[in-house]
Amino acid sequence: MQTATTLDMLRNNLAELRRGGASIGLVPTMGALHDGHLTLVRQAKAACDQVVASIFVNPTQFGPNEDLDAYPRQLAEDSAMLQAEGVALLWAPSVEVMYPAGFATSIGVTGVSAGFCGAARPGHFDGVATVVCKLFNQVQPDFAFFGEKDYQQLAVIRTMARDLDLTLPHVSNIIGIPTVREADGLAMSSRNRYLSPEQRDTAATLPRAMREAIARIEDGQDVTRTLAALEDELLGAGFDSVDYADLADAQSLSVLTQLGDIPARLLVAARIGGTRLIDNMAVGPAH
Ligand code: PAF
Repeated sequence: MQTATTLDMLRNNLAELRRGGASIGLVPTMGALHDGHLTLVRQAKAACDQVVASIFVNPTQFGPNEDLDAYPRQLAEDSAMLQAEGVALLWAPSVEVMYPAGFATSIGVTGVSAGFCGAARPGHFDGVATVVCKLFNQVQPDFAFFGEKDYQQLAVIRTMARDLDLTLPHVSNIIGIPTVREADGLAMSSRNRYLSPEQRDTAATLPRAMREAIARIEDGQDVTRTLAALEDELLGAGFDSVDYADLADAQSLSVLTQLGDIPARLLVAARIGGTRLIDNMAVGPAH
């Protein structure tokens, strides 16, 4: 596996990889890799001739009081994992390479970025859309792979790619991969490592309570009351606060107060101590 840290190195390495018309799959990450990321890499390997992974802890998607400084950085360990998975090229730029002096552009996606994490983390999705657009332009992949765990992020990225007429990748080649979960159902996340053993036990309530709420909603019970009961259950189990627990149209992400015959999604964000966990699950008709 080659590692590129400058745009010149990246371009030279990509030219080599593309020789003979090989297709490129990109897996963008912020590092601190876990099985969820490695699943993205495996799917990329299955679909593309060459896989490029990026590791960049993007400062512009963190708010002033968020965990940018604490975010785990373990480049050597991540690099070994990617190499073992057969990744051809690791793109690991510094902040100065990604945002040189004078950098002055930001991409804002309205609509799908407004609620949920967009409301709780102002500016977050502008940072995500901007860095992902840059990563797409830098690598020009045929396909790109993202986890559905960040469901709203995926919707924002697809909207950005569609609206800006990106061709590498085309919006139809932005692939969402189902969330990978621990044995007790907790969605894998680099932030799970912030949890103490006691908090980790509490965290497992989240997917369990979400599944119960989904069963009630699909059974025809009142959505508002079911979601209020879900919040109460999380707070009773030891979560400190719930940012949101909402049912939404799976495509537009507009909030629903009743389940219709279109695919829906239950989206939840809740905090334990300083750690914010998010999860989402399909509700109703198959997607
Ligand atoms: O999901 C992530 O790890 C990040 O938000 C992403 C897509 C790599 C952009 O920084």
